[in-house]
Amino acid sequence: MTITINVNGSGHQVEASPETPLLYVLREDLRLNGPKYGCGLGQCGACTVQIDGKAAFSCVTPIAAIAGRSVVTVEGLAPKGEMNMLQQAFLTEQAAQCGYCIAGMIMRAQALLDEIPQPDEKTIRRHMQPNLCRCGTHMRILRAIRRAAA
Ligand code: FES
Repeated sequence: MTITINVNGSGHQVEASPETPLLYVLREDLRLNGPKYGCGLGQCGACTVQIDGKAAFSCVTPIAAIAGRSVVTVEGLAPKGEMNMLQQAFLTEQAAQCGYCIAGMIMRAQALLDEIPQPDEKTIRRHMQPNLCRCGTHMRILRAIRRAAA
């Protein structure tokens, strides 16, 4: 079926079965490779995007659930190729090791900062819990979020 979705401020028509994961459509149809495939089970956060401003696992979100809603990927935070404040903070703090989780981390953190511009430490840690970094750079990731929130 043809489904119209709004991604990073633009409308797209995609051909997909309704249960196709949003992640597949983003990566394969729209060529947005920021969101990553990690577990495919909603357990690691590598695929995190924002749906209507909330962090969401795109690997377990069927495309049919996206009709009429707004999706933002990490590419959408830098529409003209200039990093936003949070992306710059991740770079400044050298938060990435392999980098595979970073787009998802940024999208989850951005959703928090959009809602609470200066969250306390407990709030940041609780909010970021669903996203995992297998390299173990969580402390640098937390520093980057604190930097962007300052
Ligand atoms: Fe979606 Fe792991 S790939 S949560």
